[in-house]
Amino acid sequence: MEKEILNMDEAAELFGVSIKTFIKLLREEDVPARKIGREWRFSRTALIDWLSKGSSKMYSSSEQDVRQFFEKIADKWEEISSGIYDHSIINKLIDSGLLNKDMTVLDYGSGDGFISRGIASHVGKIIAMDMSGSMLDELERKAKQQGIANILTVECEESEVPLRDGRVDMVCASMILHHIKYPEEIIQEFHRVLRPNGILFIADLLPHDDEEFRINMHDYHSGINPAELEHWLLDTGFGSIGIERLTDMGKEKKNIFVLTAIKAERV
Ligand SMILES: C[S@@+](CC[C@H](N)C(=O)[O-])C[C@H]1O[C@@H](n2cnc3c(N)ncnc32)[C@H](O)[C@@H]1O
Repeated sequence: MEKEILNMDEAAELFGVSIKTFIKLLREEDVPARKIGREWRFSRTALIDWLSKGSSKMYSSSEQDVRQFFEKIADKWEEISSGIYDHSIINKLIDSGLLNKDMTVLDYGSGDGFISRGIASHVGKIIAMDMSGSMLDELERKAKQQGIANILTVECEESEVPLRDGRVDMVCASMILHHIKYPEEIIQEFHRVLRPNGILFIADLLPHDDEEFRINMHDYHSGINPAELEHWLLDTGFGSIGIERLTDMGKEKKNIFVLTAIKAERV
């Protein structure tokens, strides 16, 4: 006969997920559970009941929201984003000395190519990937106007990185992690597509409490906590992590940090 009362390992196994994913679920959703002393206990029946009452719409509607938002405002994004951040993100990247003319860069969540177009003359080839076709249309239009010819645009599904393992020298993710429900999962994808010793560059909002801004911008998170991000990166196999708060942006802009990390070679 099947056990009715389950411990954490058994509950995770029932759902067919790792302990790590299950713990995340406990933190983020209303899973029926009791903590008795230091031990978690679950009712098999309650877990199955909880699972069967969920709805896929709950997830797809928020994805569609973000995509629809960017589809709609693609031609205005440059103006909108200029109120949030400025060229100092690109300057950090260029001044880092990490770019070279032989490298292939993946710009994930490229939008209209703020990063791609900003660094195009410093690198070999750029793959600009985004789930919004309209944002990529904007990128192509602006790149053409600027005479930039080394950017390849790729429309992807939400949080998917359709590239083979170890294909790029650098991944840039500017202002994208706060849109993604589980940023640690896309970080694993960035790690996968980077070659050993490849570089990850992230720029994002520091945690804030401007709820109106979060809702208007269709952000999933109110910024990204750099300490938590560092933890995910170390867990995934990145090292040499450097985090810096941008201080040279105008006062009216948001608080932004930039981060670089290196994909450690497996030993
Ligand atoms: C805030 S804009 C940033 C654009 C650009 N990287 C920049 O720094 O200006 C976020 C972009 O990421 C895309 N995006 C948001 N969530 C995504 C996801 N889960 N997968 C792929 N692209 C996503 C949006 O379509 C949008 O173009």
